[in-house]
Amino acid sequence: MLRKMFLAACLIAPAAGAQAQTPIDPDKQAAALVKQMTTEERNLLLHGFFSRPNPVNKLPQIGAPYAAGYTPGIARLGIPQLTESDASLGVAWINGKRARGATALPSSMALAATWDLKIAYAGSAAIAQEARASGDNVLLAGGVNLTREPRNGRNFEYLGEDPLLAGTLAGETIRAIQDQHVMSTVKHYALNAQETQQSAIGVDISEAAARESDLLAFELAIERGNPGAVMCAYNHFNGPFSCGSDFLLNKVLKQDWSYPGFVMSDWGANHATADALAGLDRESGEEFDSQIFFGAPLMALDGKDPAYTARITDMNQRILRSMIANHLFDDPPKIATPDIARGEAAARAEAATGTVLLKNNGILPLLKTARRIAVIGGYANIGVMSGGGSSQVAPQSGPALAIPTTTAADDWQAVMLHPGAPVKAILARTSGTRITFDTGAYPAFAAARAKDADIAIVFATQWTTEGLDVPDLNLPSGQNELIAAVAAANPRTIVVLETGGPVLMPWLDKTAAVLEAWYPGIRGADAIADILFGDVNPSGRLPITFPAALEQMPRPRLDGLFDFDGRQHVNYDIEGSDVGYRWYDRKGLTPLFPFGFGLSYTSFRYDDLKLRSEGNTIHASFTVTNTGSRAGRDTPQVYVTARGNAKGQRLIGWGNVELAPGASTRVIVDADPRLLADWSSPRGRWAMPAGRYDVTVNSSAANPVLDGATGLEARLLPP
Ligand code: GLC
Repeated sequence: MLRKMFLAACLIAPAAGAQAQTPIDPDKQAAALVKQMTTEERNLLLHGFFSRPNPVNKLPQIGAPYAAGYTPGIARLGIPQLTESDASLGVAWINGKRARGATALPSSMALAATWDLKIAYAGSAAIAQEARASGDNVLLAGGVNLTREPRNGRNFEYLGEDPLLAGTLAGETIRAIQDQHVMSTVKHYALNAQETQQSAIGVDISEAAARESDLLAFELAIERGNPGAVMCAYNHFNGPFSCGSDFLLNKVLKQDWSYPGFVMSDWGANHATADALAGLDRESGEEFDSQIFFGAPLMALDGKDPAYTARITDMNQRILRSMIANHLFDDPPKIATPDIARGEAAARAEAATGTVLLKNNGILPLLKTARRIAVIGGYANIGVMSGGGSSQVAPQSGPALAIPTTTAADDWQAVMLHPGAPVKAILARTSGTRITFDTGAYPAFAAARAKDADIAIVFATQWTTEGLDVPDLNLPSGQNELIAAVAAANPRTIVVLETGGPVLMPWLDKTAAVLEAWYPGIRGADAIADILFGDVNPSGRLPITFPAALEQMPRPRLDGLFDFDGRQHVNYDIEGSDVGYRWYDRKGLTPLFPFGFGLSYTSFRYDDLKLRSEGNTIHASFTVTNTGSRAGRDTPQVYVTARGNAKGQRLIGWGNVELAPGASTRVIVDADPRLLADWSSPRGRWAMPAGRYDVTVNSSAANPVLDGATGLEARLLPP
């Protein structure tokens, strides 16, 4: 099924704005090119570097624009170069070398909180056109690892804890990028759920648990988005490195899923020439490897060792096929002025829709005539927080603030704020209001400010980054004490969180309202102010559970963070595929805020659930009504809670509804059969149990509103 869908996608020229292309046949055209390659040419596409003068083979700076990856083309055969930029959040700011500027989208966690495919598409299409305008033909996007570890420093680049939500949104972003004739990746394959000592993390997990969680997210994303490349991860997977895992690359990806594209290593994640036999097709960032495994050592085997010779032919075939399928030959990028207005409009919609109202005692929305507002902390006078690492984006004017965190000249993990100061956005929406700002450095001063105001708004930030996990879920730098002091001084205290993921909130009961704005991107300040003053009705829904305490998590103490001994095993079989809300459901735990949770300035009613089972799936339909006094958006969620004798909650679908006061609409959800099944390793199939299937319609994972049941026969489904 996957292969047919992929082929169909390739034979259509869908790009917005591109002329109708002549029909292409990627397989045939690629094979014809491979046949013409000389021995040297057969090696050129198989390894790339970080687009600097290559310190290993001293390749000169061959005019490659600053990007994350580069492989020179083959002019004799008309094969274009690959110029690869990061990532899902925009065209990355490689240590300040991105002179053209780019739109900084909100974090993927904010995108996930929208639960909205149209918003996913719009943001990624916008950054893809900016990539093209910068001369890039690859965006290293599509981060889809499940956020099974809330302390993962890179959760801000991922789409939450559920495989259906994450896989569907990731697939849509990939589709959007490739519709612009820029090749996308999906990454980091697989189970790359922690960052500290990432190459030494040894993930242990059963096949069934992997197939039903992370691998299902990748499978759904690949089916929907047809990414030209899959980027394998740094961590070990049940022994071998992911980029040398025959099980992940050959068995699951290329055989079971019939994936026709190519596997590129993460930068420095290639550890042996033999990784080619395990299914790796392209060595990336070769200067980070101990040697260029896919250079001379691989070329020496070409024509000598039949297995390697056949592999090298296939490696070139896959790379060329993906390039052709994504129009890198017939519609190459042209340097142009990026349409930043388009990007910023998409960024603002994403931030406004992805911001989650977690608590509101009625203080929100604020009156624009409020007399005295104290704004405190979170660099709210400068900009908004963003995540560190390779995905870091900045506008042409550069970051509003960059605080180095290492001594390296090209500090790729700097703490960077995107421009757009919340305090200015608040000022712009009020009239006659006295607005004061306090950095929050000294709680006593901040409390005095708060006391002398009608309303206090505390901005709290949690900087997280690629390459480093956080040790706990406390807001850093004394911000919990700051919030407690401000709330004690003024009970009309609103907290705005700019975090990479979940945080603990010991001050929650003392505050009047809490907004989770994540890393809200280049237009985040406006989005936050729009919600504070009611110009936007908040509608975000949590894509990740907020724990009430570390002890609730499968690993209260994060393996591999403190007692590193060269190789750290993490046992993900503790939770298995019961990631996030499924773990809380299995253990009967009550989190601080559940998956799918979010408040609105209006209210909704669900009724009239109808269920119908047909073949190997369930159709659910129900009515949503806006029972409040203002228009709003809702995201009703449909879960299966029992399947035959198997208990356990799983998301099987959701709706995005925008309703005027009093209006109703019908929502229809069709369940993907794999979500109704368990992976049976002995049979290498999905097995659906026979019997009764219980289904609920919820406003969050913890709040079922409607329930019903239907029946299904036992079924075996192909991978
Ligand atoms: C990084 C990241 C990956 C990124 C690549 C190129 O280490 O893991 O997501 O695309 O290297 O910067």
